[in-house]
Amino acid sequence: MGTTVIKDIKIVEVSPRDGLQNEKEIIPFDKKKSFIEKLMETGVDEIEVGSFVSPKWVPQMQDTDKLFFSILPKDGIKFSALVPNMKGLERVMELPPQHRPKKLAVFTASSDTFNLKNINCTVEESFDRIRPVVEFAKREGFEVRAYISVAFWCPYEGKIPPEKTLYVCEKLIEMGVDEISLGDTIGRASPKDVSDLLSLLLKKIKPNMVALHFHNTYGMALLNSFIAFRDFGITTFDSSAGGLGGCPFAPGAAGNVATEDLVFMFENSGVKTGVNWKKIVEAVSILGIPLRSVISKVLGSR
Ligand code: HMG
Ligand code: MG
Repeated sequence: MGTTVIKDIKIVEVSPRDGLQNEKEIIPFDKKKSFIEKLMETGVDEIEVGSFVSPKWVPQMQDTDKLFFSILPKDGIKFSALVPNMKGLERVMELPPQHRPKKLAVFTASSDTFNLKNINCTVEESFDRIRPVVEFAKREGFEVRAYISVAFWCPYEGKIPPEKTLYVCEKLIEMGVDEISLGDTIGRASPKDVSDLLSLLLKKIKPNMVALHFHNTYGMALLNSFIAFRDFGITTFDSSAGGLGGCPFAPGAAGNVATEDLVFMFENSGVKTGVNWKKIVEAVSILGIPLRSVISKVLGSR
């Protein structure tokens, strides 16, 4: 029997997916596999292993099926993956049952322009594409997360009114998703933007259904995470080892908030994460990609 680790927040480690999808050089399969295996030793709750998207659109994710086939999650850890459409879901169902991710993530956005560049359809069209995926996934017993990209700011349309993101959120909840992850895709949200959106959203949705997914372009991701936890009771945070990450269809966006920085901040503020940030740095270091976290710079300067 393992010991129960008390946690105040849940970390969703998105580095194998968001962290790597924008890397130009294809990372060899064996290196990705070792990375994911090492991440399983760090104490993270969930690992987003990859995406069942078109390999023509995101070549780095082309080995997602093989990764799921080759690695089983250790007890207590949940594997998830992005699924953009029914074709993606078919790929999931082709895996042996025990190798399928427990959680599937559909994705849309708060702006048509971004959605067209990312998934080749408008926001309204995306609902028709996502609905059968959610219905099938729920029937088959998967948990379903829905990402809303550019929930605060869009690289093409500018500031997104909170009402627009609320509208998308309500549509997804009507479909039956279990969790909404709000993406600050271009890392542009200020603490005020976060407070404005969460104040509105949490009138309709419970905080335990909401995850936050901050990219760190303007260095606000840690502060925004802390405010979301302390002022709004959000307890699920997406982050990426080493601060790697970015969306190929959101030019200029930096990586996700670094898991080691997020853990360092929360743990030193008395908020239990269950994650060992030193092991996170060790895990991501095997990729040989320059790290972007504050912690890695501190370690590097010693
Ligand atoms: P499309 O071209 O409109 O799709 O792409 P289609 O249905 O017209 O099909 C065209 C071809 O793609 C067909 O093949 C399909 O079989 C194939 P062909 O007949 O030409 O040989 N195809 C697929 N192949 C494999 N897997 C599939 C699949 N679907 C179709 N699932 C599509 C639509 C959504 C597939 C495409 O736009 C796509 O894959 N986009 C990738 C988007 C992506 O991965 N973006 C990055 C992740 S999102 C993100 O980073 C944001 C997030 O982190 C939160 C945040 O930060 O905001 C989550
Ligand atoms: Mg992202």
